[in-house]
Amino acid sequence: MVITDIRDLERLARKRLPKIVSTYVENGGYEEETLRRNRDDLKAFSLVPRILNDVSERSLVCDMAGTHASMPIALAPVGACGLTYPNGEVEAAIAAKDAGVPFCLSTLSIATIEDVAKATRWPFWFQLYMMKEKRVTEALVERAYAANCSALVVSMDLHVRSQRHGEQKHGLEAPPKFNLPNIMDALTHPRWLFSMIRSKRRTFGNLIGLVKDAKSISKITKWLERQFDPTLSLKDIEWARSVWPRTLLIKGVLNAEEARQCIEHGADGVIVSNHGGRQVDGAVSTISVLPTIVDAVAGKGFVFVDSGIRSGIDVLKMLARGADGCLIGRAYLYGLAAMGRKGVLKALDIIRTELDQNMALCGVRDIKQLPAGLMVESRQSLPTFSH
Ligand code: GLV
Repeated sequence: MVITDIRDLERLARKRLPKIVSTYVENGGYEEETLRRNRDDLKAFSLVPRILNDVSERSLVCDMAGTHASMPIALAPVGACGLTYPNGEVEAAIAAKDAGVPFCLSTLSIATIEDVAKATRWPFWFQLYMMKEKRVTEALVERAYAANCSALVVSMDLHVRSQRHGEQKHGLEAPPKFNLPNIMDALTHPRWLFSMIRSKRRTFGNLIGLVKDAKSISKITKWLERQFDPTLSLKDIEWARSVWPRTLLIKGVLNAEEARQCIEHGADGVIVSNHGGRQVDGAVSTISVLPTIVDAVAGKGFVFVDSGIRSGIDVLKMLARGADGCLIGRAYLYGLAAMGRKGVLKALDIIRTELDQNMALCGVRDIKQLPAGLMVESRQSLPTFSH
């Protein structure tokens, strides 16, 4: 198959992964309205190309929260990423390093913070879920600091985990069901199965040694279920600021006033996110609220965005709405699941090429200096006829 866009990687990933894993990757919360809305709203904007600019020299480089990046992209934190491909987080982190973009490791990764640090020897970001057991949260932050992580990304949108119908139907719950359909599912995907059997880690690596019985995926998922903290609030941002001297980003922001409060309480930036449509179903798309958040932050911090980004054109649109950069989750995960490190590099290359070509086609020379009026809501671009 000739791979030309992210949808090709998506198709390959779907073939390689057992249904239980692909469902986990792809599903959204409840009826998946927000999952779809993220894509629909991105499509509801149209670019207004400029044709009179010399675009022979173009620059995509930018500052991604202190990382000099080759383009305005970071790899988003993805829980259990290493179940899509053996050593998945390490493979993705090396690909990110090779492509010159930041990698963000999830608290709920399969590889550990130390595995990634050792393999990359390059600063990466660490995403933190605040656990009810504070000693676990504290230990994770200390380890991220010791591993030279350059940014701490605190997820504030998971006071509880939403319901994912697909996961429940496939027995992906706490504890996961090892029933006949799931065993058949794994057996009919031998490439995935044998690579996972050979892989060094198969549970949430960062929790081994911190939580009793963490080596058992059933026991650890049960423990985790009780750990998401419904008391999450500004006090936690203040706490994170007090213990983390490097860049602090708050993820999951959708409200302008709350974005302003995050910055006022010490965050260096926010990540506008609806968790890839996996949490509040019926929530606004990220592109729709982005400008209000950019205004509220008013240049006092970074504004990054994720949820629904599958192409370089999507990236250009998010930047035209005011974002400083984008995080991609599923878009790179498809590449990883399909072909490991090579697949992540392919995903990044696809997005870079699309972004660069469309900058040229729209008359943009520098990604940091997009002209005003580069984008309109699609219905505004229609001519109006008087009758
Ligand atoms: C966890 O972050 C999930 O969305 O599954």
